[in-house]
Amino acid sequence: MSDDLSSRFRALWDEIAPVGRDAGSGGYLRYALTEPETELRAWFRAQARRRGLPVTEDGNGNLFAHWGDPEGADAVLTGSHFDSVPHGGAYDGPLGIVSAFLAVDELRAAGVTPVRPLVLGAFVEEEGARFGVPCLGSRLLTGALAADRAAGLRDAAGVSFAEALGDRPAGARPELLGRFGAFVELHVEQGRALVDADAAVGVASAIWPHGRWRFDVVGEGNHAGTTRMADRRDPMLTYAFAVLAANKEARLRGAHATVGRVSVEPNATNAVPSRVTGWLDARAADPETLTGLVDAVRGKLAERARRDGTEVTVTEESVTPLVAFDGGLAKRLAVLLEAPVLPTGAGHDAGVLAAQLPTAMLFVRNPTGVSHSPAEAATDDDCAAGVRALARVLEELTCR
Ligand code: GLV
Ligand code: MN
Ligand code: MN
Ligand code: MN
Repeated sequence: MSDDLSSRFRALWDEIAPVGRDAGSGGYLRYALTEPETELRAWFRAQARRRGLPVTEDGNGNLFAHWGDPEGADAVLTGSHFDSVPHGGAYDGPLGIVSAFLAVDELRAAGVTPVRPLVLGAFVEEEGARFGVPCLGSRLLTGALAADRAAGLRDAAGVSFAEALGDRPAGARPELLGRFGAFVELHVEQGRALVDADAAVGVASAIWPHGRWRFDVVGEGNHAGTTRMADRRDPMLTYAFAVLAANKEARLRGAHATVGRVSVEPNATNAVPSRVTGWLDARAADPETLTGLVDAVRGKLAERARRDGTEVTVTEESVTPLVAFDGGLAKRLAVLLEAPVLPTGAGHDAGVLAAQLPTAMLFVRNPTGVSHSPAEAATDDDCAAGVRALARVLEELTCR
């Protein structure tokens, strides 16, 4: 049944719904530190101001709004990210931030005053859609990625992360991180587990280990009409084989492999390509399976490159190890919310922060089960249920 919180969710949601929306696909183009994402960051500041929450930055592009002493210890952090994948869904990221503001409103309306400081966060470049490394903001804050490496990452137009940020990133901020005693990220579910469980909200148990590998295949660019088939050194063949091999090897192992991005040079219909670059996204329930999968694809690629007369190099761009969320915390929240506990194959800033502090994730049901696509969905009532769940969790964590 729709209620007042559903309507308030909708009203706040509608404030950001048009920002960065592509009229053609209906999906979002909210790349980190580009105009739409900057507009959302301004919206974050305005929402914080409206609630009397001072905002601080960590020098890495991450924003924090503070209910309680910004310097206070043992703070509970909640939030997510604004950036999207190309033509991504509306909820992946922003749902966690909008819900955080509404959870503050719920707690205040109920007369709750946190004993521990409560901090709302917006992390930068979670998707890695602009600079290639996912969870860039949280990796910088925690020191999982060196500031120098992040500073030099470049987008497709050649703009570096440091240029986009307007400064060299600050990198690890242990003194700031040390003030957080727990992190809770609310996120739209990116699969069908909650639909199957008939539950509006779930609690995460783990994130599969996953990573990104770039494979550059170099051959010989040549004329499509005059080059005999036997004379070709065509990197597209090697690339196509790699895609099929990744799919096969993943299926054999019960893992996931995706090649969702490719670049072709010179990208002409009537030329044998000179170079094809593909990006493999691979994920599995355990690290051994993931390593086995990637090694098998590497081996098959090398073998195929020999046959095609091409040269292939594989570069590991990022790897996120298995994240087992704090089991005690997940259990406590699952009992509190009477919610199912489920693992996920999707990466999150919570996965990076889980290595540093007790961390939990709440998922909100997605009726389509589709994500990283305009078809991603959530009902207003389920989002309201998510806000209520988040408010209960924050009360539980900040008041004792
Ligand atoms: C981020 O959403 C990822 O899992 O790729
Ligand atoms: Mn995502
Ligand atoms: Mn996300
Ligand atoms: Mn993600």
